[in-house]
Amino acid sequence: MRRLTHQYIFRALTVAAISFLAYRLLRRAAMTAPRTIVVGGGLAGLSAAHTALENGAIVVLLDKKPALGGNSVKASSGINGAGTAAQKEQNITDSPEIFYNDTLASARDLARTHLIKALTDHSVPTLEWLTNNFGVDLSLVAQLGGHSVPRTHRGKGGAPGWAMTSALVKKLEAQPERATILKGAKVVKLLREGGRVTGVEYEVGGEKKTEEGSVVIATGGYAADYAEGGYLSQFRPELLAVPTTNGDHATGDGHRLAVSIGGALCDMDQVQVHPTGFVDPKDPSAKTKFLAAEALRGVGGILIDKDGVRFVDELERRDTVTEKMREVAKAGRAPIRLLLNPEAAKTLEAHVGFYKSKGLMREYESAAALAEDAKIPLANLEATFDAQRSYAKGLTQDPFGKTNHTNAVYTLDEPLLVAEMTPVVHYTMGGIVVDEDARVLNTDGTPIPGLFAAGEAIGGVHGRNRLGGSSLLEAVVFGRLAGKSSTAR
Ligand SMILES: Cc1cc2nc3c(=O)[nH]c(=O)nc-3n(C[C@H](O)[C@H](O)[C@H](O)COP(=O)(O)OP(=O)(O)OC[C@H]3O[C@@H](n4cnc5c(N)ncnc54)[C@H](O)[C@@H]3O)c2cc1C
Ligand SMILES: *[C@@H]1O[C@H](CO)[C@@H](O)[C@H](O)[C@H]1NC(C)=O
Ligand SMILES: *[C@@H]1O[C@H](CO)[C@@H](O)[C@H](O)[C@H]1NC(C)=O
Ligand SMILES: *[C@@H]1O[C@H](CO)[C@@H](O)[C@H](O)[C@H]1NC(C)=O
Repeated sequence: MRRLTHQYIFRALTVAAISFLAYRLLRRAAMTAPRTIVVGGGLAGLSAAHTALENGAIVVLLDKKPALGGNSVKASSGINGAGTAAQKEQNITDSPEIFYNDTLASARDLARTHLIKALTDHSVPTLEWLTNNFGVDLSLVAQLGGHSVPRTHRGKGGAPGWAMTSALVKKLEAQPERATILKGAKVVKLLREGGRVTGVEYEVGGEKKTEEGSVVIATGGYAADYAEGGYLSQFRPELLAVPTTNGDHATGDGHRLAVSIGGALCDMDQVQVHPTGFVDPKDPSAKTKFLAAEALRGVGGILIDKDGVRFVDELERRDTVTEKMREVAKAGRAPIRLLLNPEAAKTLEAHVGFYKSKGLMREYESAAALAEDAKIPLANLEATFDAQRSYAKGLTQDPFGKTNHTNAVYTLDEPLLVAEMTPVVHYTMGGIVVDEDARVLNTDGTPIPGLFAAGEAIGGVHGRNRLGGSSLLEAVVFGRLAGKSSTAR
């Protein structure tokens, strides 16, 4: 009996001792685990947060808005990958090198080859990470302007930006013991000890608070920074009058944080203007516009001036189409309208349905109905449509050089989908200077310890012109690099 009691006591003591040791070990691990503070909850910030977690860090992600997602949730075309399984399934021959060459050609004299290489080399593992770890469907592939093959991936369900962002948010929310999400928390200052960044100061509900750790800036671009003295007024004042597709969070906050401690910026005058934003008939002067996806022109949509006359190859690069639209407007030939025939509309049913439900796109029963409503001479529409038919049959060549005549046939009797278009500020190529490990560099080109950046907030990846689908890729690739670098000691 006494022996048994002794045995019990001994066992109990052993269990207690082991538990205590385990507790101490776990506590030590938690105390010594790297801490990563992510500023911004768009795709770049979310990718950084997940990668920091994968590398053993404790993560705090802050976003100044009441909801995560930034501009990332709005992205509608897709994400680029070169050499993916989805491409192979469709017999599309592609490689990191072809993608690199396309990106180099688009970036022109502002190309930074080490950043382009990072972007294009990582595309396949990046898309696999999204598919395998988060179940994102990226099985459809389309070709956008400036790409030599189809490589912009999306899924069968909702818009690709939303699909990716919500999947990453969901998985982050499922790890509350290691990842804290703070919404409505605006980061206003970087904290430093010696030369190292050691945390952030932020405002939440009128209070100032701090968080300690390495910092990843993922605050997006400055395509909505219209404030007096803001980046648009400093670098592209003529764009202050142009509306934007961006959410009002895109004010370059992260750029200012980096600059405040000696971080360098580059290419700040490189701002992408997208040719086709919707003019909402209910609110024509709204500063924020819905984007009319490039795909509308890709499937056969045509652009006409106020008199029903075409003026550009609709499939030209974004900057070229925008320039032609400006000339037309300057010559007093605005408004510019986009027309879709029923065949073209059918291939983009989901897009068109959404635009119609928002009142951005309107259906007319015939060309005569459009002519009467918009005061376009019917004879001009007839001439435009006759010419289209002739290009489609190969009888004559388009004077503007369009060669893809998918859905080119427009008739006077069929219904038409019509929307008014205006160029819109869309994306900022300039930003924070980083190296290929997403470390923020100071003006001497030296990394600032403890500070990393990713996504639209960084500059120089796209040079003079960003290719469609390369911004979501930049967000995930550099988000992952920043997340990993932030955990290195
Ligand atoms: C309409 C539209 C369609 C697009 N379509 C495509 C597409 O199909 N393919 C493609 O590749 N690209 C597309 N783009 C571009 C792409 O969506 C963006 O460049 C990309 O999503 C940027 O991701 P990000 O994480 O860097 O920034 P964002 O997604 O903009 O996120 C930044 C976040 O940081 C937060 N933040 C900002 N300042 C602070 C602060 N001081 N403190 C705390 N939080 C802060 C913001 O609230 C925001 O949530 C599109 C853009 C738009 C506007
Ligand atoms: C791809 O090529 C293979 C072999 O030539 C062919 O059998 C298959 O149908 C092709 N797939 C597509 C989607 O074109
Ligand atoms: C990429 O461009 C280089 C330099 O012009 C060329 O030598 C190479 O063949 C190109 N690669 C591909 C795959 O087109
Ligand atoms: C023309 O564009 C359509 C729609 O993007 C595409 O499917 C088709 O392959 C293109 N045709 C040619 C010859 O490039």
